[in-house]
Amino acid sequence: MPTIARQRRHFQEQNELLRQLSERVVGQLRALEQIVPYVQMFQAELSPEGRPAGVFLLLGPTGTGKTRTVEALAEVLHGSPRNILKIDCGEFQMEHEVAKLIGAPPGYLGHRETTPMLTQQKLGAVASERSGLALVLFDEIEKAAPSMTRLLLGVLDKAVLRLGDNSTVNFERALIFLTSNLGAREMRKQMAPDFGFETMVPPAGAAAKLSTIGMGAVKRKFAPEFVNRIDAVITYRPLETVSLRLIVDQQIEELERHIKNRLEDRAFDLFVTNGAREFLLRAGTSAEYGARELKRAILRHLTQPLAAMVAGGKITAGAAVKVEVEEDEDRLEIRIEN
Ligand SMILES: Nc1ncnc2c1ncn2[C@@H]1O[C@H](COP(=O)(O)OP(=O)(O)O)[C@@H](O)[C@H]1O
Ligand SMILES: [Mg+2]
Repeated sequence: MPTIARQRRHFQEQNELLRQLSERVVGQLRALEQIVPYVQMFQAELSPEGRPAGVFLLLGPTGTGKTRTVEALAEVLHGSPRNILKIDCGEFQMEHEVAKLIGAPPGYLGHRETTPMLTQQKLGAVASERSGLALVLFDEIEKAAPSMTRLLLGVLDKAVLRLGDNSTVNFERALIFLTSNLGAREMRKQMAPDFGFETMVPPAGAAAKLSTIGMGAVKRKFAPEFVNRIDAVITYRPLETVSLRLIVDQQIEELERHIKNRLEDRAFDLFVTNGAREFLLRAGTSAEYGARELKRAILRHLTQPLAAMVAGGKITAGAAVKVEVEEDEDRLEIRIEN
């Protein structure tokens, strides 16, 4: 294929990937735009040799889509959000726990019992026929013992991890995501005076300020040689109310699909009023936790009461079920319309 045509195709594919990701991760286009080119380089087989296909540090407030971004990539690249090799760094706060990642050297106590968490096989298992790019997530990196950072240094630098048994794992066909709440508290303080719950929108210029806060916190915590090996430090924005509304709508749509798929010929139609959607927005989102509690709020206020009505025979096949907010706006009211 001529170069220009190939470039054009790559460009279109890149936009397609961006589109697919931005459907799943709402209101974080700037973050996604920084990640997509690295996926594209991998797909074009043009990633630099001798290092991971991409290394990203994701910062910013809780519940704004950091972990969701990696899940969305797994969905788009591999067809399932579970195709991720995820390391919860909170489980590796002690130096000796870090050994679980790479396994103990032969002859050491516990050598037999420890299957390392990071092996070539485990890396290969999260890739797929569709894409050979493995997604590796080190979640909440600031919680890990210092030796984890040292271990990561080699991975980020040479794409090689040496295991306890002296074999090596190659990370050249992997995207590595580190997430951290470093600077998050300071970011919240920065946002707090101007906006409480209603407007979680940073004023003009605040996005840059949040990045500066994040970068400052990163530099205080990690050595320069570690920071230098990160391809992009990406600060997620607090979600604006319009984004949160969109996420509520998406999750209600997801529930509708779930009802159709699971109940099949016993399925019913769900109509959720705007008032009820606003109720769920208030119940499930906050400046502190972003959209993190939304799934739980929908489960508690919508899915569970609906399930009780289905199980009790109150909702029958083909029913039109309307969900409104009660007069005193304290809870949702579910009515069956005929
Ligand atoms: N930008 C977003 N777009 C869509 N859903 C989101 C977004 N941010 C958060 N959520 C919802 O909140 C949940 C928690 O978000 P997550 O990405 O785990 O937060 P964190 O930024 O703390 O890693 C997600 O599973 C998803 O349901
Ligand atoms: Mg997370």
